[in-house]
Amino acid sequence: MSEPHSAQPRPLAVTPKSMDEIMSLCKRRGFVYQASEIYGGINGFWDYGPLGAQLKKNLREAWWQDMIMNPCWGRKGPNGDRVRCVPLETRIIQHPKVWQASGHVAGFNDPMVDCRESKQRYRYDHVSVFVPADGRETDKPVFAFVSDTPSEAKQRKKAEKAHGQVAVVELSSIPKERWTRVLAPDAETVGTLTDPKQFNLMFRTYIGATATEDDIAYLRPETAQGVFVQFKNVVDTTRVKVPFGIGNVGTSFRNEVTPRNFTFRSREFDQMELEFFCHPDESVEWYKFWRDYRMEWWKSIGLAGDNLILREHEKDELSHYSSGTSDVEYRFPFTAPGFGELEGIAHRGCYDLTQHQEHSKVKLDYFDTDRGELLPNGAKKGERYIPHCIEPAAGLDRGVLAVLCEAYTKDPSRPSPELMRFHPRLAPIKAAVFPLVNKDGMPETAERLYDELFARFGKLGFIETDAKQSIGKRYARMDEAGCPYCFTIDGDTATNQTVTARDRDTGGQERIALDRVGAFLAEKLGA
Ligand code: GAP
Repeated sequence: MSEPHSAQPRPLAVTPKSMDEIMSLCKRRGFVYQASEIYGGINGFWDYGPLGAQLKKNLREAWWQDMIMNPCWGRKGPNGDRVRCVPLETRIIQHPKVWQASGHVAGFNDPMVDCRESKQRYRYDHVSVFVPADGRETDKPVFAFVSDTPSEAKQRKKAEKAHGQVAVVELSSIPKERWTRVLAPDAETVGTLTDPKQFNLMFRTYIGATATEDDIAYLRPETAQGVFVQFKNVVDTTRVKVPFGIGNVGTSFRNEVTPRNFTFRSREFDQMELEFFCHPDESVEWYKFWRDYRMEWWKSIGLAGDNLILREHEKDELSHYSSGTSDVEYRFPFTAPGFGELEGIAHRGCYDLTQHQEHSKVKLDYFDTDRGELLPNGAKKGERYIPHCIEPAAGLDRGVLAVLCEAYTKDPSRPSPELMRFHPRLAPIKAAVFPLVNKDGMPETAERLYDELFARFGKLGFIETDAKQSIGKRYARMDEAGCPYCFTIDGDTATNQTVTARDRDTGGQERIALDRVGAFLAEKLGA
């Protein structure tokens, strides 16, 4: 178990990732807990433990820094100027008319089927059916399931017993008159599924004590609309000029019919959205700029390699107002070999501002003093227009999940096989300081080094210290928590003023001067 104190760096011998193992480590090490777990949990809601809360904060702050404070790492946009963005913080509850104008009241629906026997509700487009592989019509039941849920294996077993070889088709491809033969995913008798009906995904609440239909309000299903309804205030009260972006980070709610795959599809989740406003003629260039930058950004925080793709939507997938949408997609263990959406980058045209202008009767156009013909006095005549909007919309919790999946590594050849290889910028624990043994002045030196590192890096994440157990066990605990560097004070420290610096990913160790530890860590963390 104990790792030699002078290990050489070595490559990892990695095994495939299992979602069960990732979820188990997340619970064990305090990254993610089921919400209200002592009451049996609540479907679609997750809490973050101490390490998860700090990891999520680090991801949010990386986004905030690279999208708002120093957008695009100081790069120039397609117009040749530095990209400019400002933050905004808007409320979860907005005027109900916001959601009428945005189209969410009328259109934010999923078609659902109910099971009269089990009282379960399923998303119509998520239900598949095991049918005889040779396509023959049968009077025997056909077996419906929702993929990636326990119903899939259970129904496959029953279907193979009834039909031999089976094939999978969508429930929607089975004619309604044959639904009497469909055995629903959680039912014992056939024919219990109702016709599909639309189900609005917005959570409702009431404002005030009377709680009548007139008091209905909605929990926001996206942070974006808060930006559109404050666009005029931001323009009128600050010195921003188009092109510029407004970022809004916060919690959104969707009453998802089938929350699943750990935190991937939750009912309460955080979004990090930027609405970037530009002149219509420049909008396609800005769309491409943001699409490419967002892909680069996810790579920069550690999602490099084959697990990340940029998928451009086909023309028939686009909304009527959009001239382009791309998704940054990650290969989660539960989507592999396919991918799941991490962020959407959409060209939204002038749709949202126009909708809110119509519904609120407040002018939301922009007077651009840098455009229009040149006047004799050397100024421009100006041009009035409704800006177009490019929207990079990322899920913070989905980002955390991708980071957790990417970081999780199992190398059976290591003394303790599981480690979390977080990018140092995101790692919730930045460093650990260990006295090799708890005597001979080592704890005192370790404490002084801990104090120094805490003062310098404590605002970025945890700095840990621990004197119990063998040094190998202490390293293993830090590997599982994803701490990138450990510094060990040993018998030689007193004589030559050096410590061991150990690298999480390679297990390699090097001696560095005690008074260089801060500079070493700063360089590694890019801090
Ligand atoms: N304003 C545009 C918008 O909200 P979206 O694609 O519906 O677009 C943006 O959401 C991102 O929010 C998604 O790419 C995903 O990362 C995250 N997201 C959406 N629904 C989610 C859910 N139920 N659970 C977790 N994250 C979700």
